[in-house]
Amino acid sequence: MNNRRIVLASRPAAEATTANFRLETVPTPALAEGQVLVRNHWLSLDPYMRMRMNDMKSYAPPVAVDAVMVGGTAGVVAESRSDAFKAGDTVVGAGGWQEWTVVEAAQKGAWRKVDTARVPLAAYLGAVGMPGVTAWVGLVHFIEPKAGETIVVDAASGAVGGVVGQLAKARGCRAVGLAGGADKCAYVKEELRFDECIDYKAHRDFASLAAALDKAAPNGVDGLFENVGGLILDVVLSRMNAFGRIALCGMIAGYDGAPMPITQPRLLLTQRLRLQGFIVSEHMQLWPQALAELAEGVASGRLKYRETVADGLENAPEAFLGLLKGRNFGKQLVKLA
Ligand SMILES: NC(=O)c1ccc[n+]([C@@H]2O[C@H](COP(=O)([O-])OP(=O)(O)OC[C@H]3O[C@@H](n4cnc5c(N)ncnc54)[C@H](OP(=O)(O)O)[C@@H]3O)[C@@H](O)[C@H]2O)c1
Repeated sequence: MNNRRIVLASRPAAEATTANFRLETVPTPALAEGQVLVRNHWLSLDPYMRMRMNDMKSYAPPVAVDAVMVGGTAGVVAESRSDAFKAGDTVVGAGGWQEWTVVEAAQKGAWRKVDTARVPLAAYLGAVGMPGVTAWVGLVHFIEPKAGETIVVDAASGAVGGVVGQLAKARGCRAVGLAGGADKCAYVKEELRFDECIDYKAHRDFASLAAALDKAAPNGVDGLFENVGGLILDVVLSRMNAFGRIALCGMIAGYDGAPMPITQPRLLLTQRLRLQGFIVSEHMQLWPQALAELAEGVASGRLKYRETVADGLENAPEAFLGLLKGRNFGKQLVKLA
């Protein structure tokens, strides 16, 4: 049997391009004792993958040139030589950018069986997976929202941001999003039920964006869930209330290498702010509680999410570059089977 996979062909000089990826076809190896063969049905595309393309100081090692791109996948066990899994099990793990993955069943916690009776398989890569748990950990654990507080999140229509606002609303907070364009903002307000959403693309300078934020958050900002960096972070920082909390989750505006200065860092001092960067995989003790709330939310229909689906592995690079430019609307997936 043949496996199609996408490897990192070269490291980007600045902005990543499709030339940095290469599609290959290789035979699937025969299974050894303790191994499992998974047919990947869905590949998750996530912003962190951009950082793994560069050889730089980070929380995780880079993908080696000529190695399969890393990525979360959801699929079905096709063949098993382990007692831990049987053919037909639906599973989620780090299968990479490929159609088939050989899994070492003994690798603790790397792959888990999931129940698709009430939650669709693809949702385990989004609202009931790593992005949803990221939203939960950043908001519940680090921002610690209290009813009546104002919580701001950017990339608000995305996989993480959309969940942040809905969890904040469920805790009695005012949820204010920022998103790129009128369509995304309409979705954030009307479907996801945020109180306000600012189209940051209509506010290109500090004064204009700050005025829009003053309207959307008249009582100031108590919690910021930061996904973007740059001008947005700079503006929201200037509107933080005393003892506000910032969960620094991502800085996607700078993943291609653009500098992102903060013009008034003294505000961290004068407003006595707490700013915490975090990586969701370092908080595994919180995952069961987070996943329980997220799964119940999706199963009951209370927790809404949206997906953008690219069809076929060969379209993954283009879809990934689109994600970095905001061409996705909600969780970006690739359908592999
Ligand atoms: N710390 C962790 O453990 C962890 C885990 C998961 C994700 N993250 C981070 O969380 C953030 C969101 O991830 P996601 O998977 O939910 O992606 P996403 O929000 O579904 O997609 C990325 C979105 O970022 C926005 N964006 C891109 N470039 C931008 C720019 N220059 N200025 C403003 N917005 C820009 C775009 O939305 P617009 O069209 O609205 O601009 C785009 O749709 C990322 O920063 C990611 O790295 C961190």
